[in-house]
Amino acid sequence: MTTTAGPTAERYGDHLFHHGHPSEFARLSAMAAALDPGSRAHLTGRGVGPGWRCLDLGAGTGSVSRWLAEQVGDGGEIVAVDQDVRFLSGIEEGNVTVVEADVTAEDFAPGRFDLVHARFLLMHLREREAFLARVVDWLRPGGWLVVSDAADLGTPSSDNAAYRATMAAYWHAVAATLGSDITFGRRYPRPLAALGLGNLGVGVHFPVVAAGSGIAECWRLTLEQTRNHVLATGAVTAETIDETLRYLAAPTTWDLSLAMMTAWGRKV
Ligand SMILES: C[S@@+](CC[C@H](N)C(=O)[O-])C[C@H]1O[C@@H](n2cnc3c(N)ncnc32)[C@H](O)[C@@H]1O
Repeated sequence: MTTTAGPTAERYGDHLFHHGHPSEFARLSAMAAALDPGSRAHLTGRGVGPGWRCLDLGAGTGSVSRWLAEQVGDGGEIVAVDQDVRFLSGIEEGNVTVVEADVTAEDFAPGRFDLVHARFLLMHLREREAFLARVVDWLRPGGWLVVSDAADLGTPSSDNAAYRATMAAYWHAVAATLGSDITFGRRYPRPLAALGLGNLGVGVHFPVVAAGSGIAECWRLTLEQTRNHVLATGAVTAETIDETLRYLAAPTTWDLSLAMMTAWGRKV
């Protein structure tokens, strides 16, 4: 496991969470199923509608881009950006443009968009704050920035010890490997306030972990993919991870895990 943060440090998708992993599409789809209701509510609350020009950063499977495309209609425009666009094939028709790029190296014309959206991207970017400052330039005056990231509000208070320990080790492993910051979203909307945005707000979407739920399936696939990294922390044993996987699949399980913190602000 690497802890270096220099230019050669491992980044999201280099190895861990690479889109070529056999279960990555299923993992991101399960995540999207758990989060989309919250994202749609928050975006609807910002008034997204016909004619809007929207940028979806780190678009993943494109579930939000696709939904935005329906909201803005033929007169609007969606630009969906991801460093790996293999899961976005098929959405590029009509008002959707797909761009394969590292978002931190990309640039757009100042004032081009009515809405910039990024879900579960900033927490994984090592240069999240500097990048966020650049993103604001791409908004027109009055345009909305809507960003969502995870906060681990659910597992520390779980009464299942194996689940508590495994999730703590998981967040430690992704921080050490990718530089991911599980505390960034918990501080919303302060990072947006620091950029001078107005009309600030925060919403919390808290999916319930139960057998067959999108979030339980997402965790099953995530722990499967990160198992060696979680074990390498030395904080949990293979048996503890397996006990957690049985807990996530049990028909009697009702629990909480990550909360999706969504912050929004308007360029003045
Ligand atoms: C956790 S997934 C979230 C996907 C989607 N936003 C969602 O919430 O359903 C993070 C996504 O961001 C993309 N990503 C991560 N770092 C990126 C970067 N530097 N440039 C472009 N895309 C990036 C990944 O390829 C992945 O699709």
